Amino acid sequence: MSTFRIVIAGNSGVGKSSILMQYTDGCFLDGPPSTIGVDFRFKHLEIGRRQIKLQIWDTAGQERFSAVSASYYRSANGILLVYDLTGRETFESIAENLKSIREITGDSLPIVLVGNKRDSKRQISYQDAYDFAGEQGLSYMEVSAKTGENVHVCFELLASLVLERCKD
Ligand code: GTP
Ligand code: MG
Repeated sequence: MSTFRIVIAGNSGVGKSSILMQYTDGCFLDGPPSTIGVDFRFKHLEIGRRQIKLQIWDTAGQERFSAVSASYYRSANGILLVYDLTGRETFESIAENLKSIREITGDSLPIVLVGNKRDSKRQISYQDAYDFAGEQGLSYMEVSAKTGENVHVCFELLASLVLERCKD
């Protein structure tokens, strides 16, 4: 069985821990505590009959933890970079987030840009986000940690990108 190290990155409050909880436990909390340091979970999945174990690191978005979060990028096989569809400023900081990630990982690490809170009123259009992701060489998905929409799919997409890269 292969183990892939996945890191969830993005600003505080965009819903990183909520996405992870929905993925591993199938539930959603209205006001979860903000992450301190880092958390992690395991999850098994199967892609094309291959058994894969994901080791998923949930980083803290608060500025005071930025050095801790960055220290997890180095050993990542793939990254979910999350922003909040209802908060324009979180979309605007993606370029900066991406720069700090790529300074550490280089340009070829698979990254999926994830717009979360799709259940609520969006401030960013699908087309703008999709175009931005394309320009930056990222895949793009929109999810809701609250309803669970697309949550499994986005981890599966990232895992299959990592798997493809292993074959090179
Ligand atoms: P840090 O740990 O501080 O980096 O934040 P985080 O990115 O882990 O965010 P967290 O999962 O703690 O969620 C922040 C807030 O957004 C919480 O109040 C969640 O209940 C809410 N939230 C998360 N995902 C969704 C979603 O898909 N829809 C809605 N409506 N609210 C969400
Ligand atoms: Mg968190």
